[in-house]
Amino acid sequence: MMIADDLLLMIPGPTNLPPEVQEALGRPAFYHRGSDFAALIAACNDGLKKVFQTENDVLILTSSGSGAVEAAIVNVLSPGDRVLVVEGGKFGERMGEIAASFGADVDKFVVEAGRAADPAEVRSRLSGHKALLFVQNETSTGVRQDADLLAAAGRDAGALVIADTVSSMGGMSIPCDAWGLDVVASGSQKAFMLPPGLAFAMMGARAWEANATAKMPRSYFDLKAAKKSLEKGQTPFTPNVSMIRALGVALDLMLGEGLDNVWRRHHALANACRAWVKASGLDLLADEPHCSDVVTAVRSPEGTSSKDLVSRVRDNHRILISGGQGDLAGKIFRIGHMGCCQLDGLLRTLEATSLELQGLGFATDLAVGLDAARAAYKAGL
Ligand SMILES: Cc1ncc(COP(=O)(O)O)c(C=O)c1O
Repeated sequence: MMIADDLLLMIPGPTNLPPEVQEALGRPAFYHRGSDFAALIAACNDGLKKVFQTENDVLILTSSGSGAVEAAIVNVLSPGDRVLVVEGGKFGERMGEIAASFGADVDKFVVEAGRAADPAEVRSRLSGHKALLFVQNETSTGVRQDADLLAAAGRDAGALVIADTVSSMGGMSIPCDAWGLDVVASGSQKAFMLPPGLAFAMMGARAWEANATAKMPRSYFDLKAAKKSLEKGQTPFTPNVSMIRALGVALDLMLGEGLDNVWRRHHALANACRAWVKASGLDLLADEPHCSDVVTAVRSPEGTSSKDLVSRVRDNHRILISGGQGDLAGKIFRIGHMGCCQLDGLLRTLEATSLELQGLGFATDLAVGLDAARAAYKAGL
C-alpha cells in the first residue's frame, strides 16, 4: 500500500515531523518495565511540566487526544454533575458530547463560529456547576479563548476548570498553574511535532481532590492509576514505547530551541498568515484579537468552495491545507502553522494558495500578499 509521503502538512494536525523524531520512531522497540523506560518517562514528565508550565505531573496516555479529553472529564466528575460547556465549534461540541455520554448534566454556552466566549457572560451563567469545560484553542474555527479569564470565572463560581488544549499546547504559552486550570488535556500530533498516538493529561490539586469522590466509570483512562504507575517509572498498560522515545526527542528539540522562542515563532507565523489574508483581500473567520497562533481559518471567497481549493493546492503543489468541518465545510479553509513549521514552508503554502485562488477566479496580488506575510513575520518575532 503506497501512501503519499511527499506532502507538506499545513493542516492543523497531524503535522510535519523533524528528522530527529523520524529517526527515533524507526529505532527498535524496548521494554516498558525496565530502568531505561523509567528514566525516559521521568524525563518526559519533567519536559512536559515545563511545556504545561505546571508543578503537577503530566500523565502520558497511549491514545489520541480525545483520550485525554475523556480522562479529564471522567476522573473528576460524577454522573448527574451539572457542567457548563463552551461550544464555539466542533471540538467544544465534542467535549459536551463526551461529558453527556458519561452522564453529566450539560448546559451549553454556544458561541458563534469565529467568536470567543465573553468571559463576563460565562461568569453570569455559572451557578451551581461542578465544572466549566472549554477548548482553549478551537481548531475548527481558529479561535483562541481568553482561558485565563474563563478559568477565573470558573474558579470564582467554585467550578473545576477543564481545558482542551489538544491543538495549542506547545505552540502557545498556556501557564496552567498561573491561570488556575485544574485539568488540561492535550495530544501529540500538533505542536509537539509527533505523529498521533499519545495524549497528555495534567491534574492540579483541586482536581485530585475531586477525583477522590468522582464516580464516572473509568478503567483504561484512570488517571490515579497512571499517577501511581508514573511514581514507579511505569504506565499501567503497555504504552507506545516508540512514541514515548520520540516524545523525549521532541521535548529536547523544543527545550533546546527555548519555549519562549517556540511560542514566539508560532506567533510570528500566525502574524504572517493573517497579514497575507488581509493583504490578499480575504477575510479571517475569527475576530482578530482572538485569532489562534497555531491555525488560521479563512473565509472562502464568494463563489468558491474550499473543497476545490484544498484539492488544487494538494494536487498542483503537494501541500495539504484543510477545509472546514461540519457547517463550515466548503465555507472556510484552514492553514495550520504549528510544530515543525518555519517561515519558508508557510510562504510556499501561501504562494500556492494564492495561485490556486486565482485559478478559481479570485483576483489577488501574489506579491502583495507574500510581502505582507514576510513583513508581519519579522514584526511578530
Ligand atoms: C481542539 C481539539 N480537541 C480534540 C481533538 C481530538 O483529538 P484526536 O483526534 O487526537 O482524538 C482535536 C483534534 O484535532 C482538536 O483539535
